[in-house]
Amino acid sequence: MKPQLSVEICGVSLKNPVIAASGTFGFGREYAEYVDLNMLGGIAVKGLTLLPKKGNPPPRIAETPSGILNSVGLQNPGIDYFIEHELPWLLKYGTRIIVNINGSTIEEYCKMAEKLKDAPVDFLELNISCPNVKQGGVAFGTRPEVVYDITRSVKAHAKQPVLVKLTPNVADIKEIAVAVEKAGGDGISLINTVLGMAIDAKRRRPVLANIVGGLSGPAIKPIALRMVWEVARVVSIPIIGMGGITTGEDVVEFLLAGATAVGVGTANLMSPTACIDIINQLEEYMIHNGIEDVHELIGGLEIKPTFRKKSPSSIRWR
Ligand SMILES: Cc1cc2nc3c(=O)[nH]c(=O)nc-3n(C[C@H](O)[C@H](O)[C@H](O)COP(=O)(O)O)c2cc1C
Repeated sequence: MKPQLSVEICGVSLKNPVIAASGTFGFGREYAEYVDLNMLGGIAVKGLTLLPKKGNPPPRIAETPSGILNSVGLQNPGIDYFIEHELPWLLKYGTRIIVNINGSTIEEYCKMAEKLKDAPVDFLELNISCPNVKQGGVAFGTRPEVVYDITRSVKAHAKQPVLVKLTPNVADIKEIAVAVEKAGGDGISLINTVLGMAIDAKRRRPVLANIVGGLSGPAIKPIALRMVWEVARVVSIPIIGMGGITTGEDVVEFLLAGATAVGVGTANLMSPTACIDIINQLEEYMIHNGIEDVHELIGGLEIKPTFRKKSPSSIRWR
């Protein structure tokens, strides 16, 4: 029997839990000749800004062991172009549309939410890894009080459910996630890329023109799993987990950690059919393991008491 793969996020049903992650799947159009977009649970479109953006100068991608570093810098044609030219094309497909929005002030995020008010998109995704101009360039997503303000402000302008996408570059992801929930955020996407750097030893120079960039791909999967698991234990809003997913079994791991759906990013750059392959592998895993409904996996991590931290008195020192 075919297993049941559909999940619901904020009352919106997705045919399966696999979403193409923002910035790695363009506006869908770029992949349409390789894959049937109708098969995806959703597409998070390339990060949009209020005005068109050229992004950072090259080189802006560097391969690293088990991952890539990027400093693309949100190159995009702007929100108006998206609404006018890309969205009508994407609406032909039966997949959920998640619009990833990026600002340098809270007002910019709110203006974008306003512009999308009448657009037939399913979710807004606030990328709060962006530098906050009013707070000296520190990312919005690193301070709980700022995360609270931005979530609450955008909620007041948005018609669609608001997912807040968290940066992992913080000391305590839990307090950030709690701020999102307290402010009325409808869901949490995590993780965005991990801040990193590559150096060319021969040339004694940074590999990226921007010097630092965001690490993604399998190298960050353990960090992402840990953060999804931590966040799932402190909030009750749904989580879209991502970071290094390349197989159906990776999806199972994120669902067990507490994610309701997942994002697939860098894997799309390795193979344009990655999302479809991953959906098929998830289905095969479920058939093979006698799992009829994907909900049997969500939050299903089993932690044996023996794996819990031992009390200091029970640790023997030699
Ligand atoms: C080239 C590239 C561009 C990205 N652009 C965006 C973006 O515009 N907005 C965003 O929220 N995340 C962006 N991301 C982050 C991904 O959506 C994802 O959160 C991250 O890469 C972790 O998943 P992965 O390891 O499967 O790639 C980008 C990632 C990459 C590799």
